[in-house]
Amino acid sequence: MKAAYITQTGTPDVITYGDLPTPKPTRRQCLIKVGAVDVNPIDIYIRTGAIPAKLTFPFILGRDLAGTVVEAGASVKGIKVGDRVWASNQGTEGRPGTFAEFAAVDKRWLYPIPQGVSDEDIVALSLVGITAQLGLVRYANLRAGEVLFVNGGSGGVGSSVVQMAKILRARVITTAGSAEKVELCRQLGADLVVNYKTEDVDAAIKAFAPEGVNVWWETLREPNFERTIPLLAMRGRMVIMAGRDARPVFPVGPFYVKDCSLHGFAMFNASIREQRPAANAINRWLTEGKLKARIDRVLPLAQAAEAHRLQEESTINRTGTLAGKIVLKP
Ligand SMILES: NC(=O)c1ccc[n+]([C@@H]2O[C@H](COP(=O)([O-])OP(=O)(O)OC[C@H]3O[C@@H](n4cnc5c(N)ncnc54)[C@H](OP(=O)(O)O)[C@@H]3O)[C@@H](O)[C@H]2O)c1
Repeated sequence: MKAAYITQTGTPDVITYGDLPTPKPTRRQCLIKVGAVDVNPIDIYIRTGAIPAKLTFPFILGRDLAGTVVEAGASVKGIKVGDRVWASNQGTEGRPGTFAEFAAVDKRWLYPIPQGVSDEDIVALSLVGITAQLGLVRYANLRAGEVLFVNGGSGGVGSSVVQMAKILRARVITTAGSAEKVELCRQLGADLVVNYKTEDVDAAIKAFAPEGVNVWWETLREPNFERTIPLLAMRGRMVIMAGRDARPVFPVGPFYVKDCSLHGFAMFNASIREQRPAANAINRWLTEGKLKARIDRVLPLAQAAEAHRLQEESTINRTGTLAGKIVLKP
């Protein structure tokens, strides 16, 4: 089969698009003919070696997939050949990644694709959607009527957070770095969108939410607590989920006197049992037409190296080239 893989860490040039053996599913696995995969910033950290990960080379990149079951292991119940399925959390803890024509995936990681939903749309919502649902529901316990703030409402995580917070009936403030992205965030349902390059974000937040922000979702890798804690409401919750190298100053006084709490998490730590309700919610909201994928572009899998270059430039080097996900098709 064709796959996009690495034999060493490094720049995007270390990605090879070539032939690898098609995997054989175990009794508990299904063999999936992959219809679409997507790029996540974590793929960049793995490929560059920025985060410690035990990799067995050749290592197939990619966390998420959507596709069709072509073979089901002997002990797989409830999933049959021909079923359309999606998965996240591959390419970690010894599991191969998804950037290939075929992938063998343990049945416990597989979720059905709702009728009428494309492989491209579901894959673009998989890792980021599970992250958003876990953060909003499990960690921040967002309630109807509360004010939520998230940076970068047209980004991968941000676009899911904006939409899900609206589904949960919160009042949503987000930011964007261009007029086009401001408009995109409005279309996603945000109540207030602030251009962080041309407007005073803090003043806009204070005007919209004089009592403060109930849930502050920080997508930036350099959180500025000196700035953001004063913007929190009484009993405000802050979600942090990016910035492994960040060592910011933390103003203790203004935080605890408002009974605030801080919730850090990485979605890949969530067990299958914890991720499944998030996956079910994504399927339900997609079926109900409440949730939409934010896809910047669709490329052939053969252009995996180019996709990595683009994602790195946009997310890590902060050029903002992308507005949403890159989807790749084998
Ligand atoms: N912990 C977890 O489980 C988890 C899961 C998924 C992702 N992550 C991490 O979360 C981060 C975001 O991931 P992503 O997929 O959403 O990336 P992304 O699609 O590149 O989005 C990044 C967003 O940040 C915004 N942004 C950049 N600089 C900004 C600034 N100065 N002020 C306000 N907004 C700014 C961008 O807005 P503009 O484009 O408008 O400039 C963009 O919307 C990454 O570091 C990723 O590794 C963590």
